[in-house]
Amino acid sequence: MNELLRDLRAIVEHERALHGDLLPLPATKEDPSSSSADPSPADTGTPSHTAPDDAASDPDMPNYDLFGNQVDPAEDPSLPPSERIEALIPDDAPYKDADTLDEVEQYLANTVLVPIDEDRENPVFGVGDPAADLVIIGEAPGRNEDEEGEPFVGRAGQLLDKILDAINFKREDVYITNILKSRPPRNRDPKSEEVDAHLPVLYKQIALIRPKIILTVGKVAGNTLLDRSSSLSNLRDQEHDFYGIPLMATYHPAALLRNSQWKRPTWEDMKLLRTRYDQLTDET
Ligand code: URA
Ligand code: URA
Repeated sequence: MNELLRDLRAIVEHERALHGDLLPLPATKEDPSSSSADPSPADTGTPSHTAPDDAASDPDMPNYDLFGNQVDPAEDPSLPPSERIEALIPDDAPYKDADTLDEVEQYLANTVLVPIDEDRENPVFGVGDPAADLVIIGEAPGRNEDEEGEPFVGRAGQLLDKILDAINFKREDVYITNILKSRPPRNRDPKSEEVDAHLPVLYKQIALIRPKIILTVGKVAGNTLLDRSSSLSNLRDQEHDFYGIPLMATYHPAALLRNSQWKRPTWEDMKLLRTRYDQLTDET
């Protein structure tokens, strides 16, 4: 045991030499070389705790791996999803520390992040319950949404409402939004710089809403959130993990309007969504 600890200590010291003083060496009962001689403040408290445990119990402390390297908070499963997702937002984003959706919406309404923000009639932030357990994410506003400033109000949106109704959800029960908050001209695909500019706003929305499950509709929303480039049938083939939140992907209602053969698999997905939602909201 002592030998193992010495080995680990040697590795940590090596890492320290390489990367600087990231981690106070853990004091352990088993290791006689690390007693009162070490003046590091982390060593003065309770013995036999490793730094990773201590860090995990304090939400303001960064977490460290065995080798003293800081764990990317987004990739740290010991943190709640909202903290992991918030860690994805650039530190210089003015809404990073916002406490309410209204604050973020105000910011968005008054800011041009990319040229499509200048050309829009209205920003389309999101609609529904700010504490919803289910968040539904589409691609981008279309013409009707741009005119009304509300997501999914055109033909696709009316179909989405019917689909939700079929599994006993009303629009007001859930929260509906998009990857992009401004309509791309002629409904073209989002450009990567537009996604890069608007995605952190969506991260902030999710972090504030803290849903128990996420549904993406269409290939763009699913692939963007999961950072993949898969076909829709691959995306919908399993439940995904979005920084600790279960995520399901299904067809876009606009795609169902064009191709009715996708209605049946969508219905299967929706029944599964309802089942998972009931499970996930029951356990608390
Ligand atoms: N399609 C989307 O992806 N989002 C909307 O809000 C409307 C249509
Ligand atoms: N392709 C898409 O982009 N979306 C769908 O929903 C189905 C196919």
